[in-house]
Amino acid sequence: MCGIIGYASPDAEPAGDVLLDGLERLEYRGYDSAGLAVANSTIEVYKRAGELASLESTLDGTDLVGSVGIGHTRWSTHGPPTDENAHPHTDCEGRVAVVHNGIVTNAEALRAELVEAGHVFESDTDTEVVPHLLEEFLDRDLSPEEAFECTLERIEGSYAIAAVVAGADAIYATRRHSPLVLGLDGETTYLASDVPAFLEQTDRVIYLEDEQIVRLAPSELVVRDGEGSVVEPPVETIDWDPEDVGKSGYDHFMLKEIYEQPQAVRQATRGRVSELDGTIELTAFPTAMRNELDRVQFVGCGTSYYATRYGAALLRERGVPAQAFVASEYGTERVPTEDGTVVVGVTQSGETADTLAALRDANGAGATTLAVTNVVGSSAARECDAAVYVRAGPEISVAATKSFASQQVTLATIASALADGTDRPFLESIRDLPAQVQRVLDRSNARDVAEELVGADAYFFIGRGYQHPVALEGALKMKEITYEHAEGFPAGELKHGPLALVTDRTPVVALVTGGDDLVEKTLSNVREVEARGAPVVAVTDDPDGVDGVADHVLEVPETHRYLVPVLTNVQLQLLAYWTANLLDRPIDKPRNLAKSVTVE
Ligand code: F6R
Repeated sequence: MCGIIGYASPDAEPAGDVLLDGLERLEYRGYDSAGLAVANSTIEVYKRAGELASLESTLDGTDLVGSVGIGHTRWSTHGPPTDENAHPHTDCEGRVAVVHNGIVTNAEALRAELVEAGHVFESDTDTEVVPHLLEEFLDRDLSPEEAFECTLERIEGSYAIAAVVAGADAIYATRRHSPLVLGLDGETTYLASDVPAFLEQTDRVIYLEDEQIVRLAPSELVVRDGEGSVVEPPVETIDWDPEDVGKSGYDHFMLKEIYEQPQAVRQATRGRVSELDGTIELTAFPTAMRNELDRVQFVGCGTSYYATRYGAALLRERGVPAQAFVASEYGTERVPTEDGTVVVGVTQSGETADTLAALRDANGAGATTLAVTNVVGSSAARECDAAVYVRAGPEISVAATKSFASQQVTLATIASALADGTDRPFLESIRDLPAQVQRVLDRSNARDVAEELVGADAYFFIGRGYQHPVALEGALKMKEITYEHAEGFPAGELKHGPLALVTDRTPVVALVTGGDDLVEKTLSNVREVEARGAPVVAVTDDPDGVDGVADHVLEVPETHRYLVPVLTNVQLQLLAYWTANLLDRPIDKPRNLAKSVTVE
Protein backbone atom coordinates (compact mmCIF):
# COMPACT_ATOMS: atom_id res chain seq x y z
CA MET A 1 0.00 0.00 0.00
CA CYS A 2 2.05 2.90 -1.33
CA GLY A 3 5.82 3.01 -1.19
CA ILE A 4 7.90 5.95 0.00
CA ILE A 5 11.58 6.54 -0.73
CA GLY A 6 13.82 9.37 0.42
CA TYR A 7 17.48 10.22 -0.21
CA ALA A 8 19.69 12.72 1.62
CA SER A 9 23.35 12.82 0.68
CA PRO A 10 26.30 15.17 0.05
CA ASP A 11 26.49 13.39 -3.30
CA ALA A 12 23.75 15.21 -5.22
CA GLU A 13 24.49 13.74 -8.66
CA PRO A 14 22.66 10.43 -8.46
CA ALA A 15 19.52 11.66 -6.67
CA GLY A 16 17.09 10.98 -9.55
CA ASP A 17 18.53 7.52 -10.28
CA VAL A 18 18.55 6.53 -6.60
CA LEU A 19 14.92 7.56 -6.21
CA LEU A 20 13.83 5.73 -9.36
CA ASP A 21 15.78 2.66 -8.33
CA GLY A 22 14.15 2.70 -4.88
CA LEU A 23 10.70 3.13 -6.43
CA GLU A 24 11.31 0.17 -8.71
CA ARG A 25 12.03 -1.98 -5.67
CA LEU A 26 8.94 -0.68 -3.89
CA GLU A 27 6.58 -0.98 -6.82
CA TYR A 28 5.05 -4.13 -5.34
CA ARG A 29 3.48 -1.85 -2.71
CA GLY A 30 1.36 -0.05 -5.31
CA TYR A 31 1.59 0.70 -8.99
CA ASP A 32 -1.28 3.03 -9.85
CA SER A 33 1.02 6.02 -10.25
CA ALA A 34 4.50 7.17 -9.32
CA GLY A 35 6.32 10.43 -8.74
CA LEU A 36 9.34 12.10 -7.26
CA ALA A 37 10.60 15.48 -6.12
CA VAL A 38 14.15 16.76 -5.87
CA ALA A 39 14.73 19.81 -3.70
CA ASN A 40 17.31 22.51 -4.14
CA SER A 41 16.55 26.22 -3.87
CA THR A 42 13.39 25.25 -5.80
CA ILE A 43 11.60 21.91 -6.02
CA GLU A 44 11.30 19.89 -9.20
CA VAL A 45 8.35 17.49 -9.23
CA TYR A 46 7.65 14.77 -11.79
CA LYS A 47 4.66 12.43 -11.50
CA ARG A 48 2.59 10.21 -13.74
CA ALA A 49 -0.42 7.89 -13.59
CA GLY A 50 0.35 4.26 -14.40
CA GLU A 51 3.31 2.08 -13.61
CA LEU A 52 6.77 3.44 -12.93
CA ALA A 53 7.64 3.02 -16.61
CA SER A 54 5.34 6.00 -17.45
CA LEU A 55 7.28 8.21 -15.06
CA GLU A 56 10.57 6.97 -16.48
CA SER A 57 9.52 7.78 -20.01
CA THR A 58 8.38 11.24 -18.89
CA LEU A 59 11.81 11.86 -17.39
CA ASP A 60 13.40 10.41 -20.51
CA GLY A 61 16.93 10.48 -19.14
CA THR A 62 16.63 13.91 -17.46
CA ASP A 63 19.39 14.14 -14.85
CA LEU A 64 17.82 15.05 -11.53
CA VAL A 65 20.45 16.47 -9.21
CA GLY A 66 19.84 17.38 -5.59
CA SER A 67 21.12 16.48 -2.16
CA VAL A 68 17.62 15.65 -0.92
CA GLY A 69 14.71 14.02 -2.73
CA ILE A 70 11.58 11.99 -2.12
CA GLY A 71 9.57 9.55 -4.25
CA HIS A 72 6.32 7.63 -4.09
CA THR A 73 4.56 4.74 -5.74
CA ARG A 74 0.81 4.73 -5.15
CA TRP A 75 -2.03 2.33 -4.43
CA SER A 76 -5.15 4.51 -4.66
CA THR A 77 -7.40 5.06 -1.67
CA HIS A 78 -8.75 8.59 -2.34
CA GLY A 79 -9.35 9.42 -5.98
CA PRO A 80 -8.60 7.46 -9.16
CA PRO A 81 -5.07 6.91 -10.47
CA THR A 82 -4.48 10.13 -12.43
CA ASP A 83 -1.47 12.42 -12.88
CA GLU A 84 -3.08 14.93 -10.50
CA ASN A 85 -3.65 12.35 -7.77
CA ALA A 86 -0.11 10.97 -8.02
CA HIS A 87 2.32 11.98 -5.27
CA PRO A 88 4.29 14.14 -4.46
CA HIS A 89 1.69 16.79 -3.72
CA THR A 90 2.62 20.44 -3.50
CA ASP A 91 1.35 23.66 -1.97
CA CYS A 92 0.05 26.60 -4.05
CA GLU A 93 3.48 28.08 -4.65
CA GLY A 94 5.40 24.84 -5.18
CA ARG A 95 7.58 25.52 -2.13
CA VAL A 96 6.73 22.20 -0.49
CA ALA A 97 6.41 18.62 -1.76
CA VAL A 98 4.91 15.76 0.25
CA VAL A 99 4.56 11.99 -0.13
CA HIS A 100 2.25 10.00 2.10
CA ASN A 101 1.26 6.42 2.80
CA GLY A 102 -1.93 5.83 4.80
CA ILE A 103 -5.10 7.87 5.28
CA VAL A 104 -5.65 11.33 6.73
CA THR A 105 -9.07 10.73 8.29
CA ASN A 106 -9.91 14.40 8.94
CA ALA A 107 -8.86 15.50 5.43
CA GLU A 108 -12.33 16.65 4.43
CA ALA A 109 -12.65 19.11 7.32
CA LEU A 110 -9.08 20.37 6.84
CA ARG A 111 -9.61 20.83 3.13
CA ALA A 112 -12.76 22.91 3.70
CA GLU A 113 -10.86 25.07 6.18
CA LEU A 114 -7.90 25.53 3.83
CA VAL A 115 -10.10 26.32 0.81
CA GLU A 116 -11.83 28.91 2.96
CA ALA A 117 -8.39 30.39 3.67
CA GLY A 118 -7.72 30.67 -0.08
CA HIS A 119 -5.79 27.48 -0.85
CA VAL A 120 -6.40 25.95 -4.26
CA PHE A 121 -6.41 22.14 -4.45
CA GLU A 122 -5.49 20.18 -7.55
CA SER A 123 -6.20 16.58 -6.58
CA ASP A 124 -8.89 14.42 -4.97
CA THR A 125 -6.47 13.00 -2.42
CA ASP A 126 -6.53 13.26 1.35
CA THR A 127 -2.76 13.83 1.21
CA GLU A 128 -2.95 17.24 -0.42
CA VAL A 129 -4.03 18.88 2.83
CA VAL A 130 -0.53 18.22 4.18
CA PRO A 131 1.46 20.50 1.84
CA HIS A 132 -1.20 23.21 2.18
CA LEU A 133 -1.03 23.02 5.97
CA LEU A 134 2.76 23.23 5.74
CA GLU A 135 2.43 26.28 3.51
CA GLU A 136 0.07 27.85 6.00
CA PHE A 137 2.58 27.45 8.83
CA LEU A 138 5.60 28.50 6.72
CA ASP A 139 3.69 31.67 5.86
CA ARG A 140 3.57 32.37 9.59
CA ASP A 141 7.40 32.44 9.55
CA LEU A 142 7.88 29.12 11.28
CA SER A 143 10.98 27.11 10.39
CA PRO A 144 10.36 24.06 8.14
CA GLU A 145 10.79 21.78 11.17
CA GLU A 146 8.32 23.77 13.27
CA ALA A 147 5.89 23.94 10.36
CA PHE A 148 6.12 20.16 9.97
CA GLU A 149 5.42 19.61 13.67
CA CYS A 150 2.45 22.02 13.63
CA THR A 151 1.08 20.23 10.57
CA LEU A 152 1.25 16.88 12.33
CA GLU A 153 -0.70 18.31 15.24
CA ARG A 154 -3.57 19.04 12.86
CA ILE A 155 -3.84 15.73 11.04
CA GLU A 156 -5.52 12.53 12.22
CA GLY A 157 -5.36 9.00 10.89
CA SER A 158 -2.55 6.65 9.96
CA TYR A 159 0.38 7.79 7.96
CA ALA A 160 4.00 7.74 6.95
CA ILE A 161 4.85 11.17 5.59
CA ALA A 162 7.96 12.67 4.06
CA ALA A 163 8.22 16.32 3.04
CA VAL A 164 10.81 18.57 1.42
CA VAL A 165 10.83 22.37 1.53
CA ALA A 166 12.60 24.50 -1.09
CA GLY A 167 15.92 25.81 0.22
CA ALA A 168 15.81 23.72 3.42
CA ASP A 169 18.18 20.94 2.27
CA ALA A 170 16.48 18.32 4.43
CA ILE A 171 13.67 15.75 4.47
CA TYR A 172 11.17 15.90 7.33
CA ALA A 173 9.41 12.63 8.00
CA THR A 174 7.30 10.79 10.51
CA ARG A 175 5.12 7.73 10.92
CA ARG A 176 1.97 6.68 12.70
CA HIS A 177 0.74 3.11 12.12
CA SER A 178 2.49 2.99 8.72
CA PRO A 179 6.01 1.67 8.23
CA LEU A 180 9.07 3.87 7.75
CA VAL A 181 12.65 2.70 7.97
CA LEU A 182 15.97 4.55 7.62
CA GLY A 183 19.03 3.11 5.85
CA LEU A 184 22.42 4.38 6.98
CA ASP A 185 25.32 4.44 4.53
CA GLY A 186 28.06 6.77 5.75
CA GLU A 187 27.00 10.36 5.12
CA THR A 188 24.07 9.23 3.01
CA THR A 189 20.73 8.37 4.58
CA TYR A 190 17.80 6.63 2.93
CA LEU A 191 14.20 6.64 4.02
CA ALA A 192 11.74 4.02 2.82
CA SER A 193 8.57 2.09 3.49
CA ASP A 194 10.52 -1.14 3.30
CA VAL A 195 14.13 -2.31 3.41
CA PRO A 196 14.43 -3.70 -0.18
CA ALA A 197 14.30 -0.09 -1.42
CA PHE A 198 17.89 0.49 -0.32
CA LEU A 199 19.21 -2.96 0.57
CA GLU A 200 21.75 -2.86 -2.25
CA GLN A 201 23.33 0.24 -0.69
CA THR A 202 23.21 -0.65 3.00
CA ASP A 203 22.06 -3.25 5.50
CA ARG A 204 22.23 -0.88 8.52
CA VAL A 205 18.74 0.27 9.41
CA ILE A 206 16.72 2.18 11.97
CA TYR A 207 13.03 1.30 12.32
CA LEU A 208 11.24 4.49 13.25
CA GLU A 209 8.72 4.30 16.08
CA ASP A 210 5.24 5.81 15.83
CA GLU A 211 5.24 9.60 16.38
CA GLN A 212 9.03 9.95 16.01
CA ILE A 213 10.00 12.83 13.74
CA VAL A 214 13.15 12.64 11.70
CA ARG A 215 15.17 15.28 9.91
CA LEU A 216 17.43 13.82 7.23
CA ALA A 217 20.00 16.20 5.83
CA PRO A 218 23.18 15.43 3.88
CA SER A 219 25.63 14.17 6.56
CA GLU A 220 23.17 14.72 9.37
CA LEU A 221 20.34 12.72 10.89
CA VAL A 222 18.24 13.83 13.85
CA VAL A 223 15.45 11.72 15.34
CA ARG A 224 13.07 13.20 17.94
CA ASP A 225 10.40 11.48 19.98
CA GLY A 226 6.80 12.70 20.22
CA GLU A 227 7.82 15.15 22.98
CA GLY A 228 10.55 16.72 20.86
CA SER A 229 13.56 15.22 22.68
CA VAL A 230 16.41 13.98 20.54
CA VAL A 231 16.67 10.16 20.72
CA GLU A 232 19.21 7.64 19.47
CA PRO A 233 17.24 4.68 18.15
CA PRO A 234 19.06 1.35 17.87
CA VAL A 235 20.74 0.57 14.56
CA GLU A 236 19.97 -2.95 13.36
CA THR A 237 21.69 -5.04 10.71
CA ILE A 238 19.50 -6.82 8.17
CA ASP A 239 20.60 -10.30 7.13
CA TRP A 240 18.75 -10.40 3.81
CA ASP A 241 20.97 -10.86 0.80
CA PRO A 242 20.60 -8.04 -1.81
CA GLU A 243 20.60 -10.83 -4.43
CA ASP A 244 17.30 -12.03 -2.97
CA VAL A 245 15.69 -8.76 -3.99
CA GLY A 246 16.38 -9.32 -7.73
CA LYS A 247 14.69 -11.79 -10.09
CA SER A 248 17.84 -13.94 -10.55
CA GLY A 249 16.89 -14.87 -14.11
CA TYR A 250 13.27 -15.84 -13.44
CA ASP A 251 10.58 -14.15 -15.54
CA HIS A 252 8.66 -13.17 -12.45
CA PHE A 253 9.33 -12.66 -8.76
CA MET A 254 6.43 -15.02 -8.09
CA LEU A 255 8.10 -17.93 -9.86
CA LYS A 256 11.42 -17.16 -8.19
CA GLU A 257 9.75 -17.08 -4.80
CA ILE A 258 7.92 -20.37 -5.48
CA TYR A 259 11.28 -21.92 -6.29
CA GLU A 260 12.83 -20.49 -3.13
CA GLN A 261 10.52 -22.56 -0.95
CA PRO A 262 12.92 -25.43 -0.15
CA GLN A 263 15.26 -22.85 1.37
CA ALA A 264 12.38 -20.97 3.03
CA VAL A 265 11.01 -24.02 4.84
CA ARG A 266 14.54 -25.01 5.88
CA GLN A 267 15.12 -21.57 7.34
CA ALA A 268 11.80 -21.66 9.21
CA THR A 269 13.00 -24.50 11.42
CA ARG A 270 16.73 -23.71 11.55
CA GLY A 271 17.89 -23.74 15.16
CA ARG A 272 14.38 -24.47 16.34
CA VAL A 273 14.21 -28.18 15.79
CA SER A 274 17.07 -29.96 17.46
CA GLU A 275 18.28 -32.92 15.45
CA LEU A 276 20.27 -34.19 18.43
CA ASP A 277 17.58 -34.95 20.94
CA GLY A 278 14.57 -34.50 18.69
CA THR A 279 13.02 -31.68 20.68
CA ILE A 280 11.56 -28.48 19.36
CA GLU A 281 12.71 -25.26 20.93
CA LEU A 282 11.13 -21.99 20.02
CA THR A 283 13.43 -19.57 21.76
CA ALA A 284 11.30 -16.63 20.67
CA PHE A 285 8.27 -18.19 22.32
CA PRO A 286 8.65 -17.27 25.99
CA THR A 287 8.34 -20.13 28.43
CA ALA A 288 6.00 -18.00 30.55
CA MET A 289 3.64 -17.62 27.62
CA ARG A 290 3.77 -21.33 26.95
CA ASN A 291 3.06 -22.22 30.57
CA GLU A 292 0.17 -19.84 30.94
CA LEU A 293 -1.47 -20.65 27.64
CA ASP A 294 -5.01 -22.01 27.86
CA ARG A 295 -6.38 -21.06 24.45
CA VAL A 296 -5.24 -19.41 21.23
CA GLN A 297 -7.00 -16.97 18.93
CA PHE A 298 -5.38 -16.45 15.55
CA VAL A 299 -5.90 -13.37 13.40
CA GLY A 300 -4.75 -12.76 9.83
CA CYS A 301 -5.87 -11.59 6.38
CA GLY A 302 -5.96 -13.25 2.97
CA THR A 303 -3.28 -15.87 2.57
CA SER A 304 -2.09 -15.32 6.12
CA TYR A 305 -5.64 -15.96 7.34
CA TYR A 306 -5.60 -19.33 5.57
CA ALA A 307 -2.36 -20.08 7.40
CA THR A 308 -4.14 -19.28 10.68
CA ARG A 309 -6.90 -21.77 9.80
CA TYR A 310 -4.24 -24.41 9.35
CA GLY A 311 -2.46 -23.39 12.57
CA ALA A 312 -5.68 -23.44 14.59
CA ALA A 313 -6.57 -26.91 13.29
CA LEU A 314 -3.13 -28.20 14.28
CA LEU A 315 -3.44 -26.82 17.79
CA ARG A 316 -6.94 -28.17 18.27
CA GLU A 317 -5.77 -31.63 17.29
CA ARG A 318 -3.04 -31.27 19.90
CA GLY A 319 -5.60 -30.46 22.58
CA VAL A 320 -5.21 -26.66 22.66
CA PRO A 321 -8.52 -24.80 22.10
CA ALA A 322 -7.84 -22.57 19.09
CA GLN A 323 -9.87 -20.41 16.72
CA ALA A 324 -8.94 -18.48 13.59
CA PHE A 325 -10.46 -15.09 12.76
CA VAL A 326 -10.33 -12.89 9.68
CA ALA A 327 -8.56 -9.95 11.30
CA SER A 328 -11.01 -7.33 10.03
CA GLU A 329 -13.88 -9.24 11.69
CA TYR A 330 -12.10 -9.94 14.96
CA GLY A 331 -13.65 -6.96 16.73
CA THR A 332 -17.18 -8.14 16.01
CA GLU A 333 -16.67 -11.91 16.28
CA ARG A 334 -14.23 -12.13 19.14
CA VAL A 335 -15.08 -14.32 22.07
CA PRO A 336 -13.82 -12.85 25.36
CA THR A 337 -10.07 -12.98 25.93
CA GLU A 338 -9.89 -14.46 29.42
CA ASP A 339 -6.65 -15.03 31.29
CA GLY A 340 -4.53 -17.53 29.44
CA THR A 341 -5.59 -16.38 25.96
CA VAL A 342 -2.74 -15.86 23.52
CA VAL A 343 -3.69 -13.95 20.38
CA VAL A 344 -1.41 -14.81 17.48
CA GLY A 345 -1.24 -12.37 14.55
CA VAL A 346 0.03 -14.04 11.39
CA THR A 347 1.25 -11.46 8.90
CA GLN A 348 3.98 -11.67 6.30
CA SER A 349 4.59 -7.93 6.21
CA GLY A 350 3.83 -7.23 9.85
CA GLU A 351 2.16 -4.03 8.65
CA THR A 352 -1.36 -5.09 7.60
CA ALA A 353 -3.69 -2.56 9.20
CA ASP A 354 -6.54 -5.01 9.83
CA THR A 355 -4.23 -7.45 11.60
CA LEU A 356 -2.55 -4.71 13.63
CA ALA A 357 -5.95 -3.36 14.67
CA ALA A 358 -7.03 -6.82 15.86
CA LEU A 359 -3.79 -7.26 17.81
CA ARG A 360 -4.20 -3.83 19.41
CA ASP A 361 -7.76 -4.76 20.28
CA ALA A 362 -6.49 -7.97 21.90
CA ASN A 363 -3.73 -6.10 23.75
CA GLY A 364 -6.30 -3.64 25.03
CA ALA A 365 -8.44 -6.53 26.29
CA GLY A 366 -5.48 -7.83 28.29
CA ALA A 367 -4.56 -10.80 26.10
CA THR A 368 -0.98 -11.85 25.51
CA THR A 369 -0.05 -11.26 21.88
CA LEU A 370 2.39 -13.01 19.58
CA ALA A 371 3.38 -11.92 16.07
CA VAL A 372 4.26 -14.57 13.50
CA THR A 373 5.80 -12.45 10.80
CA ASN A 374 8.45 -12.30 8.10
CA VAL A 375 9.69 -8.80 8.77
CA VAL A 376 12.05 -8.12 11.63
CA GLY A 377 11.24 -4.82 13.29
CA SER A 378 7.79 -4.60 11.67
CA SER A 379 4.91 -3.00 13.57
CA ALA A 380 3.43 -6.39 14.49
CA ALA A 381 6.78 -7.59 15.82
CA ARG A 382 7.26 -4.46 17.88
CA GLU A 383 3.76 -4.12 19.24
CA CYS A 384 3.21 -7.73 20.32
CA ASP A 385 4.51 -9.23 23.56
CA ALA A 386 6.70 -11.59 21.52
CA ALA A 387 7.52 -12.36 17.90
CA VAL A 388 8.42 -15.50 15.99
CA TYR A 389 9.94 -14.85 12.58
CA VAL A 390 9.06 -17.13 9.66
CA ARG A 391 12.35 -16.27 7.86
CA ALA A 392 11.07 -16.54 4.28
CA GLY A 393 13.35 -13.71 3.10
CA PRO A 394 12.06 -10.75 1.07
CA GLU A 395 8.85 -11.49 -0.80
CA ILE A 396 8.31 -9.03 -3.64
CA SER A 397 5.54 -10.57 -5.74
CA VAL A 398 2.17 -9.26 -4.58
CA ALA A 399 0.81 -12.81 -4.42
CA ALA A 400 2.16 -14.48 -1.30
CA THR A 401 3.88 -17.82 -1.93
CA LYS A 402 6.99 -18.70 0.04
CA SER A 403 5.79 -16.72 3.05
CA PHE A 404 2.73 -19.01 3.23
CA ALA A 405 4.93 -22.12 3.21
CA SER A 406 7.10 -20.58 5.91
CA GLN A 407 4.01 -19.68 7.94
CA GLN A 408 2.71 -23.24 7.62
CA VAL A 409 5.99 -24.73 8.81
CA THR A 410 6.41 -22.20 11.61
CA LEU A 411 2.87 -22.80 12.86
CA ALA A 412 3.34 -26.57 12.65
CA THR A 413 6.52 -26.19 14.68
CA ILE A 414 4.84 -23.95 17.24
CA ALA A 415 1.98 -26.46 17.54
CA SER A 416 4.44 -29.26 18.18
CA ALA A 417 6.45 -27.20 20.65
CA LEU A 418 3.32 -26.27 22.59
CA ALA A 419 1.88 -29.74 22.59
CA ASP A 420 4.83 -31.88 23.47
CA GLY A 421 8.00 -30.96 21.63
CA THR A 422 9.25 -34.50 21.16
CA ASP A 423 7.18 -35.69 18.25
CA ARG A 424 9.62 -37.97 16.41
CA PRO A 425 7.69 -38.71 13.19
CA PHE A 426 6.88 -35.03 12.80
CA LEU A 427 10.50 -34.03 13.41
CA GLU A 428 11.77 -36.48 10.85
CA SER A 429 9.28 -35.22 8.30
CA ILE A 430 10.26 -31.61 8.98
CA ARG A 431 13.87 -32.58 8.29
CA ASP A 432 12.91 -34.13 4.95
CA LEU A 433 10.51 -31.38 3.91
CA PRO A 434 12.91 -29.08 1.97
CA ALA A 435 13.97 -31.98 -0.26
CA GLN A 436 10.34 -32.95 -0.80
CA VAL A 437 9.37 -29.41 -1.77
CA GLN A 438 12.28 -29.49 -4.20
CA ARG A 439 10.99 -32.75 -5.64
CA VAL A 440 7.55 -31.23 -6.25
CA LEU A 441 9.19 -28.28 -8.01
CA ASP A 442 11.42 -30.50 -10.13
CA ARG A 443 8.70 -32.90 -11.23
CA SER A 444 5.54 -30.81 -11.34
CA ASN A 445 3.41 -31.15 -14.45
CA ALA A 446 1.28 -28.16 -13.39
CA ARG A 447 2.26 -26.30 -16.55
CA ASP A 448 0.82 -29.07 -18.78
CA VAL A 449 -2.34 -29.18 -16.70
CA ALA A 450 -2.67 -25.39 -16.95
CA GLU A 451 -2.38 -25.66 -20.74
CA GLU A 452 -5.21 -28.22 -20.80
CA LEU A 453 -7.51 -26.16 -18.62
CA VAL A 454 -6.82 -22.54 -19.54
CA GLY A 455 -9.94 -20.75 -20.76
CA ALA A 456 -12.26 -22.52 -18.32
CA ASP A 457 -15.36 -20.69 -17.04
CA ALA A 458 -14.29 -21.06 -13.40
CA TYR A 459 -12.01 -23.14 -11.20
CA PHE A 460 -13.15 -24.86 -8.01
CA PHE A 461 -10.83 -26.15 -5.31
CA ILE A 462 -11.96 -28.68 -2.72
CA GLY A 463 -10.30 -30.24 0.31
CA ARG A 464 -11.05 -31.60 3.76
CA GLY A 465 -9.36 -31.17 7.12
CA TYR A 466 -5.88 -29.67 6.79
CA GLN A 467 -6.42 -29.39 3.05
CA HIS A 468 -9.41 -27.10 3.35
CA PRO A 469 -7.27 -23.96 3.98
CA VAL A 470 -5.08 -25.03 1.05
CA ALA A 471 -8.17 -25.24 -1.19
CA LEU A 472 -9.06 -21.69 -0.13
CA GLU A 473 -5.51 -20.50 -0.74
CA GLY A 474 -5.33 -22.27 -4.13
CA ALA A 475 -8.49 -20.45 -5.22
CA LEU A 476 -7.22 -17.11 -3.94
CA LYS A 477 -3.95 -17.53 -5.84
CA MET A 478 -5.80 -18.51 -9.00
CA LYS A 479 -8.20 -15.56 -8.90
CA GLU A 480 -5.73 -12.87 -7.94
CA ILE A 481 -3.15 -13.53 -10.61
CA THR A 482 -5.31 -14.92 -13.46
CA TYR A 483 -8.44 -12.75 -12.95
CA GLU A 484 -10.46 -15.93 -13.55
CA HIS A 485 -13.28 -16.90 -11.24
CA ALA A 486 -12.10 -19.40 -8.62
CA GLU A 487 -13.58 -20.62 -5.33
CA GLY A 488 -12.41 -22.94 -2.62
CA PHE A 489 -14.78 -25.16 -0.60
CA PRO A 490 -14.72 -27.87 2.02
CA ALA A 491 -15.17 -30.90 -0.24
CA GLY A 492 -18.38 -31.93 1.52
CA GLU A 493 -20.04 -28.56 0.90
CA LEU A 494 -20.32 -28.78 -2.90
CA LYS A 495 -23.49 -30.80 -2.76
CA HIS A 496 -25.11 -28.16 -0.53
CA GLY A 497 -25.21 -25.54 -3.26
CA PRO A 498 -22.06 -24.87 -5.32
CA LEU A 499 -22.59 -28.09 -7.32
CA ALA A 500 -25.17 -26.10 -9.31
CA LEU A 501 -22.24 -24.20 -10.86
CA VAL A 502 -20.34 -27.30 -11.95
CA THR A 503 -20.24 -28.02 -15.70
CA ASP A 504 -17.79 -29.49 -18.19
CA ARG A 505 -16.20 -26.01 -18.32
CA THR A 506 -15.44 -25.75 -14.60
CA PRO A 507 -12.40 -27.80 -13.60
CA VAL A 508 -12.45 -29.05 -10.01
CA VAL A 509 -9.07 -29.31 -8.28
CA ALA A 510 -9.43 -31.87 -5.50
CA LEU A 511 -6.91 -32.26 -2.69
CA VAL A 512 -7.03 -35.99 -2.15
CA THR A 513 -4.85 -36.69 0.89
CA GLY A 514 -5.23 -36.99 4.64
CA GLY A 515 -5.76 -40.63 5.59
CA ASP A 516 -8.18 -43.30 4.41
CA ASP A 517 -11.35 -41.84 5.88
CA LEU A 518 -10.90 -38.33 4.45
CA VAL A 519 -9.64 -39.65 1.13
CA GLU A 520 -12.67 -41.91 0.73
CA LYS A 521 -15.08 -39.07 1.44
CA THR A 522 -13.25 -36.63 -0.83
CA LEU A 523 -13.24 -39.21 -3.62
CA SER A 524 -16.98 -39.54 -3.36
CA ASN A 525 -17.24 -35.72 -3.76
CA VAL A 526 -14.96 -36.02 -6.78
CA ARG A 527 -17.30 -38.57 -8.31
CA GLU A 528 -20.19 -36.13 -7.84
CA VAL A 529 -18.45 -33.48 -9.97
CA GLU A 530 -17.19 -36.03 -12.45
CA ALA A 531 -20.79 -37.15 -13.01
CA ARG A 532 -21.56 -33.52 -14.01
CA GLY A 533 -18.79 -33.61 -16.60
CA ALA A 534 -16.27 -31.43 -14.73
CA PRO A 535 -12.61 -32.04 -15.55
CA VAL A 536 -10.97 -33.27 -12.33
CA VAL A 537 -7.43 -32.48 -11.21
CA ALA A 538 -6.39 -34.61 -8.23
CA VAL A 539 -3.54 -33.38 -6.08
CA THR A 540 -2.48 -36.47 -4.21
CA ASP A 541 0.27 -38.52 -2.62
CA ASP A 542 -1.38 -41.69 -3.93
CA PRO A 543 -1.82 -41.52 -7.74
CA ASP A 544 -3.11 -45.13 -7.88
CA GLY A 545 -5.93 -44.17 -5.53
CA VAL A 546 -7.32 -41.61 -8.01
CA ASP A 547 -6.92 -43.81 -11.05
CA GLY A 548 -10.14 -43.75 -13.06
CA VAL A 549 -11.60 -40.67 -11.30
CA ALA A 550 -9.09 -37.93 -12.11
CA ASP A 551 -8.39 -36.48 -15.56
CA HIS A 552 -5.10 -35.00 -14.35
CA VAL A 553 -2.87 -35.81 -11.41
CA LEU A 554 -0.50 -33.47 -9.59
CA GLU A 555 1.56 -35.73 -7.40
CA VAL A 556 3.24 -34.93 -4.09
CA PRO A 557 5.55 -37.17 -2.05
CA GLU A 558 4.21 -38.86 1.06
CA THR A 559 4.98 -37.13 4.31
CA HIS A 560 3.54 -36.56 7.79
CA ARG A 561 -0.11 -35.63 7.38
CA TYR A 562 0.48 -32.28 9.11
CA LEU A 563 2.92 -31.35 6.38
CA VAL A 564 1.23 -32.63 3.20
CA PRO A 565 -0.57 -29.25 2.89
CA VAL A 566 2.81 -27.58 2.36
CA LEU A 567 3.45 -29.83 -0.62
CA THR A 568 -0.03 -29.75 -2.16
CA ASN A 569 0.02 -25.96 -1.95
CA VAL A 570 3.18 -25.80 -4.06
CA GLN A 571 1.34 -27.61 -6.88
CA LEU A 572 -1.55 -25.13 -6.63
CA GLN A 573 0.84 -22.18 -6.75
CA LEU A 574 2.37 -23.57 -9.94
CA LEU A 575 -1.05 -24.23 -11.47
CA ALA A 576 -2.09 -20.62 -10.83
CA TYR A 577 1.26 -19.27 -12.04
CA TRP A 578 1.22 -21.16 -15.34
CA THR A 579 -2.44 -20.34 -15.98
CA ALA A 580 -1.71 -16.63 -15.45
CA ASN A 581 1.36 -16.95 -17.64
CA LEU A 582 -0.66 -18.45 -20.49
CA LEU A 583 -3.18 -15.62 -20.12
CA ASP A 584 -0.34 -13.10 -20.24
CA ARG A 585 -1.29 -11.44 -16.96
CA PRO A 586 1.02 -9.03 -15.09
CA ILE A 587 1.75 -11.78 -12.56
CA ASP A 588 3.83 -9.87 -10.02
CA LYS A 589 1.53 -6.87 -9.96
CA PRO A 590 -2.12 -7.92 -10.28
CA ARG A 591 -4.55 -5.11 -10.96
CA ASN A 592 -6.10 -3.29 -7.98
CA LEU A 593 -3.87 -5.05 -5.44
CA ALA A 594 -0.85 -4.09 -3.36
CA LYS A 595 1.57 -6.12 -1.31
CA SER A 596 1.05 -4.50 2.03
CA VAL A 597 -2.37 -3.12 2.92
CA THR A 598 -1.90 -0.48 5.56
CA VAL A 599 -5.47 0.84 5.66
CA GLU A 600 -8.46 -0.82 7.36
C1 F6R B 1 -2.53 -12.92 -1.32
C2 F6R B 1 -1.88 -12.05 -0.36
C3 F6R B 1 -2.74 -11.33 0.63
C4 F6R B 1 -2.00 -11.19 1.97
C5 F6R B 1 -2.81 -10.32 2.93
C6 F6R B 1 -2.16 -10.22 4.29
O1 F6R B 1 -1.61 -13.52 -2.16
O2 F6R B 1 -0.71 -11.87 -0.37
O3 F6R B 1 -3.96 -11.95 0.79
O4 F6R B 1 -1.81 -12.46 2.52
O5 F6R B 1 -2.95 -9.03 2.38
O6 F6R B 1 -0.87 -9.70 4.21
P1 F6R B 1 0.17 -9.91 5.39
O7 F6R B 1 0.49 -11.35 5.46
O8 F6R B 1 1.34 -9.06 5.03
O9 F6R B 1 -0.51 -9.45 6.64
